[in-house]
Amino acid sequence: MQFLSRPFSVLCLLLCTSLSACAEQPLVGDIERGEKISGVCGMCHGDNGISNVPIYPNLAGQKEQYLVLQLKAFRDGERVNMAMTSHAQKLSDQDIADLSAYYAQLDPRP
Ligand code: HEC
Repeated sequence: MQFLSRPFSVLCLLLCTSLSACAEQPLVGDIERGEKISGVCGMCHGDNGISNVPIYPNLAGQKEQYLVLQLKAFRDGERVNMAMTSHAQKLSDQDIADLSAYYAQLDPRP
């Protein structure tokens, strides 16, 4: 009997995992809200997403999904940077979606 129940529980686990992945809808970024909460980011990344400091990256026109991934990586400690980590730790998933949508649609040319 035991050889039967094990594959069954593995199957259940797989099914549950894939179902919860389906339930997780990607958040839609709100550009206007992103702009409103981007004030602190602008201190380093520039008001228009173009930075004036050589070691601070430009964000304007960057791919939206890439921005989401990097902000989550900073927030969750997978990417570490003294300047960024403390700011990213305050962000919710919705904040990250909104900020990413905002910076992605800015003109990348200085
Ligand atoms: C005190 C300065 C500072 C502030 C404030 C700041 N950042 Fe950053 N940010 C940095 C630095 C420095 C890096 C580059 C980190 C590295 O070298 O890994 C960075 C990297 C990033 C990246 C990754 C860019 C890439 O090309 O990989 C994103 C996205 C980002 N910041 C978004 C934000 C957002 C959104 C905010 C506001 C919530 C913010 N930052 C606030 C300094 C700052």
